[in-house]
Amino acid sequence: MCGIVGYVGSRPCVDLIVAGLRKLEYRGYDSAGVAVVGASGLAVARSKGKLKNLVALLAEKPLPGTTGIGHTRWATHGKPSDENAHPHCYGGVAVVHNGIIENHLELKGALTAKGHVFSSETDTEIFAHLVSDALEGGAADLAGAVRTALAQVSGTYAIAVVSARRPEEIVAAKNASPLVVGFGQGESFLASDVPAILEHTRDVVYLEEGELALLTPRGIRFEGPDGRPLEKQPRRIEWSAVAAEKEGHKHFMHKEIFEQPRAVADTIRGRISLEQGDVVLDGIELSEAQARGLERLVVVACGTSWHAGCSGAQMIEALARLPTEVELASEFRYSDPIVGPRTLVVAISQSGETADTLAAVKEAKRRGAPAIAICNVVGSAIPRECAEAKEPGAPRGTLYTHAGPEIGVASTKAFTTQLAALFLLAVRLGRLRGTLAADAARTHLEALRQVPLWMDQVIRQEPSVMPVAKRCAQARDVLFLGRGAQYPVALEGALKLKEISYIHAEGYAAGEMKHGPIALIDEALPVVVLATKEPAYEKTLGNMEEVRARGGLVFAVVSEGDTLAAGLAEVALTVPHAPPLLAPLLSILPLQFLAYHVADLKGTDVDQPRNLAKSVTVE
Ligand code: F6R
Repeated sequence: MCGIVGYVGSRPCVDLIVAGLRKLEYRGYDSAGVAVVGASGLAVARSKGKLKNLVALLAEKPLPGTTGIGHTRWATHGKPSDENAHPHCYGGVAVVHNGIIENHLELKGALTAKGHVFSSETDTEIFAHLVSDALEGGAADLAGAVRTALAQVSGTYAIAVVSARRPEEIVAAKNASPLVVGFGQGESFLASDVPAILEHTRDVVYLEEGELALLTPRGIRFEGPDGRPLEKQPRRIEWSAVAAEKEGHKHFMHKEIFEQPRAVADTIRGRISLEQGDVVLDGIELSEAQARGLERLVVVACGTSWHAGCSGAQMIEALARLPTEVELASEFRYSDPIVGPRTLVVAISQSGETADTLAAVKEAKRRGAPAIAICNVVGSAIPRECAEAKEPGAPRGTLYTHAGPEIGVASTKAFTTQLAALFLLAVRLGRLRGTLAADAARTHLEALRQVPLWMDQVIRQEPSVMPVAKRCAQARDVLFLGRGAQYPVALEGALKLKEISYIHAEGYAAGEMKHGPIALIDEALPVVVLATKEPAYEKTLGNMEEVRARGGLVFAVVSEGDTLAAGLAEVALTVPHAPPLLAPLLSILPLQFLAYHVADLKGTDVDQPRNLAKSVTVE
């Protein structure tokens, strides 16, 4: 994520940029900074923490000037700190960036060998060095220098660059991360997202992949991916400022459901080597000997992250043949757990701050077990705890999910990106332990790469959930049933519904229905069955028949084209057919939409449901 704002014109730019960043804080809030080109050259202010820290710094040390860029950061490489805050500068060039540069280590090595000295741990700083080098090397202008730099990087980016040598210019470029430019009278604007500039202009152009823009007070010039000039017509934004912050979505949760194909693509980006049939787990230290020496794996997590762990355990057992238990962190920490050096503990946490999960990691380490994390928030407490191994050389580290900030309290994209990260971990463990051949791994990874596309297809079918939502909104209780890979999805679907709609919901293993919950079934109880075509699918169809026979109302999630399962349901929601271990990444989407629309119909506070908090830092 991360938020970018830029201004070039005749007004003092800092206050305007900071006001824009405030509108983008939802995109990241672990540090912020601005760079201004003024009469005395380039000046920068940066501060760790929320924007108010930067505002305090600027009050002490104002930055005069009418050309500037600003950034609010969501860390992906390098912990949140003053040094890692953007803008990054080198040789009179300042850069802000949103995205991930995959080959930054390689580039950094080459630049260091040429004598460059780096002052941060970020991937972004590379840009400042490359642009500065290109200017030194005789690039015709700033836009040319930026092009030369971009030709050397691979990954995703929205960047904005200013240079002390070109005081009235900002160069911006985009590849996969959003960027919008705005037109004014004698001034031009730039932002990651429209709300940051809506106060000043409603005439904007969204940059497309590979495009570059040169912003000056006199206007904006565009270049296509091939460097040729482009004509682009501004479009007028009619949204209100509030709607714009959510990119037109009514709630952050809705926006975050839609973001999942992008988020999952970011989780897997740069981590798959199809050639080798393997995975690069950046951030995790785990040798082949250590992986082979493991006796078992224990996942510790809470809530939605625990559900992801339940799916992850199935992936790890299937691909790495490593016995895996999934523990609720709040139980594990007080359970006198049996773990030791040959148990790998994997903590899963979106926030990285959940007190019970952190305590579980500490307890496991105290007992001699190595611990690694899967986490979304870079530099948070759990990754910090997992950065240090108790025994030198023992497994340690964090695999970040790169989902971007999740604002809605109900977890959506954090869950699916955790599943994707767990799948990567399972493949890697399988390769290290010799339980998964390269060819088989390649097939699994090819399927994983399809997931964002499949997710897009499911998301497009959102309206089909409405009849189910209307019926469930009137219910007192809802039952969710699933088997195998779909059992954790049933648990997660029930949790989503109860936490935002306040309707009682239970997730059950479909085969367990006859051992108790079947007594609940009558015409007032909607039963949502995950009936995708996976092992024991016929048994699930049998459960649907049982519910129908007792007058229960069956709604189902079924595989595309499966008329048999669809025929047993009042309403069937379809998902593309995926290999069973990846199927939860798709089947959870209709259930997220279901919870969302039920809550919206009931008029509850979707993004901030009562009694809940985004980070549970207390026991
Ligand atoms: C549910 C939800 C919670 C969290 C749980 C753990 O939608 O968000 O159940 O999953 O509080 O939080 P993290 O993953 O931050 O450790």
